[in-house]
Amino acid sequence: MSDPWQECMDYCIEVTKRAGKMICEALQKDIAVMHKSSAVDLVTETDQKVEQLIISSIREKYPTHSFIGEESVAAGAPSALSDNPTWIIDPIDGTTNFVHRFPFVSVSIGFTVKKEIEFGIVYSCIEDKMYTARKGKGAFCNGVPIKVSGQEDISKSLVLTEMGFKKDAEQFQTMMANIRNILSIPVHGIRSPGSAAVNMCLVACGSADAYYHMGIHCWDMAGGAAVVREAGGVIMDISGGPFDLMSRRLIVASSRMIAERIAKEITQFHVGRDDTD
Ligand code: IPD
Repeated sequence: MSDPWQECMDYCIEVTKRAGKMICEALQKDIAVMHKSSAVDLVTETDQKVEQLIISSIREKYPTHSFIGEESVAAGAPSALSDNPTWIIDPIDGTTNFVHRFPFVSVSIGFTVKKEIEFGIVYSCIEDKMYTARKGKGAFCNGVPIKVSGQEDISKSLVLTEMGFKKDAEQFQTMMANIRNILSIPVHGIRSPGSAAVNMCLVACGSADAYYHMGIHCWDMAGGAAVVREAGGVIMDISGGPFDLMSRRLIVASSRMIAERIAKEITQFHVGRDDTD
């Protein structure tokens, strides 16, 4: 039987390439920075233009499909996930990196049907790395199969997370304490590349062994979740329970042992959900 979603995936790759080209061109010009929820929550005209390009191109071809896009949600669109085929889009994952021309900037798109991720595309456009994953068919970077490191010993692992200012003092303390706890295991190190989707792809191709974060969104996670899962990685909630795309939190790792150990070290804080807040 033919795969009903392969055509969507092929089209998604084509649109994502165009989006990446638009981002790389914008990097050659002045970048005007605006703010969203706080002084460290940045957005640019390019985020908005790229999202418009992606959504209009896809909507033209698939008019009955649904969309959850970072900038559309910021402008007031709903972010509830339904059973309808849904494109979950982050036009620039790593906007702060984009603003600083720090070279981890990606276009991230995940596609769900009946709330299950069917495929994910992450294009790290400055590096020109196109990560693709179709459910049950493996994960690839520029067409070459990738897989996680398989590392099971956390003391030999490299861990990724996000380090950023938090207005809530208690959350800030907890975030720093979590980093201290992980470093004290000890692990080989912690890195923070600044794009959630790229972080997941780095775990997927074995360049890092784990990534955890509380406070990201479904558009940061959907594309990369498909890639890391298809690369043989483990993806779970920060509590150690099942991964929930709308929960705003996750751990991904090269093995269940590492993911569970990270879950044990982490103190949770409330981040709300994408579909209720
Ligand atoms: C951000 C990046 C970052 C993560 C933030 C996200 P954006 O995405 O993925 O790594 O830590 O929580 O908001 O805003 O640049 O699309």
